[in-house]
Amino acid sequence: MKAVVYKEPFKVAVENVDDPKINHPNDAIVRITSSCICGSDLHMYEGRTAAEPGIVFGHENMGVIEEIGSAVKDRKVGDRVVMPFNVACGFCKNCLGGFTGFCTTVNPGFAGGAYGYVAMGPWVGGQAEYLQVPFADFNCLPLPKGNQNEADFSLLADIFPTGYHGAHLADVKPGESVAVFGAGPVGLMAAYSCTIRGAAEVYSIDHVKERLDKAAGFGAIPINYDDADPVEQIKSRRSGSGVDKAIDAVGYQATSAGSSAAGGEQDEVPNIVLNQLIDVVNPTGALGIPGLYVPSDPGGVDENAKRGALSINFGRLFEKGLRLGTGQCNVKSYNAYLRDLIIAGRAEPSFVVSHEVSLDEAPEAYVKFDRREDGYTKVILHP
Ligand SMILES: NC(=O)c1ccc[n+]([C@@H]2O[C@H](COP(=O)([O-])OP(=O)(O)OC[C@H]3O[C@@H](n4cnc5c(N)ncnc54)[C@H](O)[C@@H]3O)[C@@H](O)[C@H]2O)c1
Ligand SMILES: [Zn+2]
Ligand SMILES: [Zn+2]
Repeated sequence: MKAVVYKEPFKVAVENVDDPKINHPNDAIVRITSSCICGSDLHMYEGRTAAEPGIVFGHENMGVIEEIGSAVKDRKVGDRVVMPFNVACGFCKNCLGGFTGFCTTVNPGFAGGAYGYVAMGPWVGGQAEYLQVPFADFNCLPLPKGNQNEADFSLLADIFPTGYHGAHLADVKPGESVAVFGAGPVGLMAAYSCTIRGAAEVYSIDHVKERLDKAAGFGAIPINYDDADPVEQIKSRRSGSGVDKAIDAVGYQATSAGSSAAGGEQDEVPNIVLNQLIDVVNPTGALGIPGLYVPSDPGGVDENAKRGALSINFGRLFEKGLRLGTGQCNVKSYNAYLRDLIIAGRAEPSFVVSHEVSLDEAPEAYVKFDRREDGYTKVILHP
């Protein structure tokens, strides 16, 4: 089958790889209809992880079940399904607690597995024609038959639940004010989820115009951090007050103001957003940090950053009595509920999708999405 294969930093190719097989009676083989490119893929694409050439990318996968193993009970051939990016067993201690992003079964020696991702186990990615899904009854979320809401449902694999997770980690409640750093797909979904949860005022911070426009489209207040310090911009609009909650949907490749959106490596300031969260949130508030931080970054700006050790103002965090939550999204905790919001017409996350292209066009889509040019915000590949 055809698949998107990582070749070297800033290069992927569409190549023929082995077809996936049923390796265990719990497996299903899914024929992929949609697989999205994620900001998380860019960390590997840019050579900013330990990912080795040859890895097939793709953790945001949706399709139709083509084949099932003999032990699969609830899912059937022909079911339309979307898979959480987390591969999870459903029966380990963390899965039972709802923490399917930290499954201890699927990636021995580590808590957490994913398709097509460095250090996340042997699971081949789904930017391909077919995907092997283990523990298929647990990992395949059923969807209405047909092809309606394809783009909306495909976002249930990662960014809609992950954005919602950011709002959950920050414990966003009705009537609150929230600052969401980053208006990439995750940040937009986090800000959108805050409005779904009833936040009164949502600020969306970025410097990519098309992305800020999308945030304004559903009522968030866009803040361009190239104009002035975003914390000061928010406080000046609020008569000097900060906000109740804040979300980091940027992660360790955060850039300082004024940098070019493309490859601004010299402008990278990995701790800038974390410290801005601490500054902008009022005492007793909470921080949600779904943006990715890694314990090993070959391209880190200094020796500390290379081992994921970042300097944050813990004194101020403590003084303000702030709480914080981090980590991979436990997609299974949210995806069925968010699916039902889409079915009920109460959520339409596909407004983030800017481009839908064929698998063959993936190499060019990676280049443009990585440079955040031509309005590339979220790309769906259709094999
Ligand atoms: N926790 C999880 O389970 C999970 C899942 C998916 C993605 N992620 C992570 O979430 C992060 C965002 O993902 P994405 O797909 O939206 O990525 P993205 O790279 O498309 O978006 C990041 C955005 O942050 C903006 N940005 C950079 N520096 C900034 C700053 N100082 N202040 C405000 N905005 C800034 C960029 O312009 C960009 O628009 C990534 O780190 C990704 O790895 C985490
Ligand atoms: Zn993703
Ligand atoms: Zn598990």
